Amino acid sequence: MFPLQRNRRLRQSEAIRSLVRETIISPNDFLVPLFVVEGKGIKEEIDSMPNYFRYSLDILEKEVKNLWQLGLKSVLLFVKVPDNLKDNKGTEALNPNGLMQRAIKTVKNACPDMLVMTDVALDPFSSYGHDGIIANGTIVNDSTVKVLADMSVSHAEAGADFVAPSDMMDGRILGIREALENHGFTKTGIMSYSAKYASAFYGPFRDALDSAPVDVKDIPKDKKTYQMDYANRIEAIKETEMDIAEGADIVMVKPGLCYLDIVRDIKNVVDVPVAVYQVSGEYAMLKAAAEKGWLDHDAVMLEQVTAIKRAGADIIASYFAKDVVKLLS
Ligand code: PBG
Repeated sequence: MFPLQRNRRLRQSEAIRSLVRETIISPNDFLVPLFVVEGKGIKEEIDSMPNYFRYSLDILEKEVKNLWQLGLKSVLLFVKVPDNLKDNKGTEALNPNGLMQRAIKTVKNACPDMLVMTDVALDPFSSYGHDGIIANGTIVNDSTVKVLADMSVSHAEAGADFVAPSDMMDGRILGIREALENHGFTKTGIMSYSAKYASAFYGPFRDALDSAPVDVKDIPKDKKTYQMDYANRIEAIKETEMDIAEGADIVMVKPGLCYLDIVRDIKNVVDVPVAVYQVSGEYAMLKAAAEKGWLDHDAVMLEQVTAIKRAGADIIASYFAKDVVKLLS
């Protein structure tokens, strides 16, 4: 009670503030998403993600060494697939010599200790831009799960440490876990995008991979039949608990900032690490506001990642990872 307690005593200098600070950001918190393209010598900036790039494998090799030097020890790989290799079955996703499989090997060769996580979903490989196989105008669950399981085995064979299914099909964690077990990949982890919402914040990512749902008659224009309704909270816990029961090692909430209530709900009930994906639209918003001179880029960036960790994130997947780490050092 005042005046016996004067809370400002603990705020009066940086020394005392840092002594009592509850949430500390370090390079260990981050998982770095990387976009990979075919070609040589390519480092192309993504229009809606300023200062974020797609890399060909030779440049990817340099970039991961660079990340390692900065203390960033985990990457999450995504590939941009040429249109002529896309179909409705994810055929190219299973190619042992596909871009993802080569990207995994490239990273492991360049930096053997780097933790490699891979995106598992059909959208970059889908001629319709959906995370699953389409039949009669709907995204078919169980046959999609089968492909996701085969895809995961293929990534594990190429050397992935973790697979990260981002598709939201029912039962895919069990399907993937059983397939990995059956092929002897008992050490391969699964980071499940367990509470992934149907969000408008994914726009720039779909630009990066050219993976947006196509505008064709009888093809769903959005992902609302598999990604979660952003009005829902309890359902996130159910999804997450089911994924853990099916064999997920790490669970995830996505997007980040608008969903920190969900992050805390989940952190309070699960006993596995919780990852949060600060997504492309969140990155783009801050870049745009900073470009206009309306926000202090670095200050807002640090505030945002600290808020994500404070909410309960053990792991932050973020396009800001490199910027944050440079700022901290
Ligand atoms: C698709 C996938 C998406 C993201 C990661 N995996 C987009 C989507 O669901 O349409 C979004 C990441 C981001 O916006 O940064 N499987």
